[in-house]
Amino acid sequence: MSDLELNPLFARTDEATSFPRHRIPEAGSLPETAYQLIHDEAMLDGNARMNLATFVGTWMDDHANRLYSEAFDKNMIDKDEYPATAEIEDRCWRMIARLWNAPDPDHTMGTSTVGSSEACMFGGLALKRRWQHRRRAAGESTERPNIVLSSAVQVCWEKFCNYFDVEPRYVPVSEEHRVLDGHDLDSYVDENTIGVVAILGVTYTGMYEPVAAIAAALDDIEDRRGLDIRIHVDAASGGMIAPFLQPDLEWDFRLPRVASINTSGHKYGLVYPGLGWIVWRTQEDLPEDLVFRVSYLGGDMPTLALNFSRPGAQVLLQYYLFLQLGMDGYRRVQGTTMEVARYLAGEIGKMPDFELWSEDLDIPVFAWRLAVEDASGGARRERKWTLYDLSDRLRMHGWQVPAYPMPDDLSDVTVQRIVVRNGMSHDLATLFVRDLRTCVHYLDGLAAPLPSSADCGQGRGFHH
Ligand SMILES: Cc1ncc(COP(=O)(O)O)c(C=O)c1O
Repeated sequence: MSDLELNPLFARTDEATSFPRHRIPEAGSLPETAYQLIHDEAMLDGNARMNLATFVGTWMDDHANRLYSEAFDKNMIDKDEYPATAEIEDRCWRMIARLWNAPDPDHTMGTSTVGSSEACMFGGLALKRRWQHRRRAAGESTERPNIVLSSAVQVCWEKFCNYFDVEPRYVPVSEEHRVLDGHDLDSYVDENTIGVVAILGVTYTGMYEPVAAIAAALDDIEDRRGLDIRIHVDAASGGMIAPFLQPDLEWDFRLPRVASINTSGHKYGLVYPGLGWIVWRTQEDLPEDLVFRVSYLGGDMPTLALNFSRPGAQVLLQYYLFLQLGMDGYRRVQGTTMEVARYLAGEIGKMPDFELWSEDLDIPVFAWRLAVEDASGGARRERKWTLYDLSDRLRMHGWQVPAYPMPDDLSDVTVQRIVVRNGMSHDLATLFVRDLRTCVHYLDGLAAPLPSSADCGQGRGFHH
């Protein structure tokens, strides 16, 4: 047998079986050896389908997988070289503009991005630039812009404020006001407020912020104080749920105060990681000086992107799903995902140790905490374990279910959360419930409390 026929690869003469970790090795290796090594190391990752922490797409069908592999070499920015992909991007955001009830979808602006974070940066930048133009035109200072948002915003908004010098004014969540709901908004806004962020699907809990109530509070503020403050809706997850499952809920461009909306194509848009969308209400809501022109078929094409190069394949995948599922298919897929989430929430809510964070579900995401009282309202149950211990224990069955503290002013509350996505069947969900019960039973049976893993920096990060 020649050396190259020898398998496993690691038994071949002169073949490296381990590589330096932080330096490019001097000599290369056979492609199959390098492949096998990396393939094996990646096995140490969790199983993406059992990752109930992520919002991001982990399942697509074989046609999508085929399209992906046919298009992984396309650069989204090369509009001139890939005019078909550029045209499809344009069609997709126009479809989304209609989905979100833009008043005049032919007279608006949108774009794909690498995810919701980039889209939020643009939403925030457009609000800031508009405010600056208005203030300059009135001969007023543009020194100290601020933005009002819930303390439960996703970390991308903290980044926006940090990177683009905007003061964040966080409205704390509390037991009474579990989301930003317009309450006390008056004391947070002033003439330097560039906008208010409303979240459709709070990352921590899945709850919708009532965009209409926030808009009404801002209407009232405008009447009394003359401040015209617009809303950006961060619909990273809800933007592709609400149009299908809650079509009568007014959260989008039906509300005149909503200037822009983002979503993640790679969340409930159902595409693999690497895709976000943002759409503005009208072209005027996006200041012209934020737009760059690239050459496109001898003409010019407006573009908006923080990065220059970026994969184009995900845009084709989004278009594939729009054509393949249609409105009806999206309704059915999201509806099924929601049913599975309701089933899981129902089972977990019934268990005496847990208390669901909210009664009903907005998106197929829910959180729970340890029950303070027993089912009959009696005294606190004696428990030797925490949700962090449960999270650890579930990992032994392959499930990844994060536990983490809530943001201010609820940081003493720990919750655990499940994100149900397309691909989590009812069947799989029943197996999860079985494993969850096994884990609780095991933890209950321990003689002594586990050393607290909450102190090991676990928790935050999972959901961010
Ligand atoms: C409400 C919200 N906004 C923004 C983001 C960031 O999205 P992306 O991961 O697409 O950048 C997330 C991600 O979970 C989110 O839940």
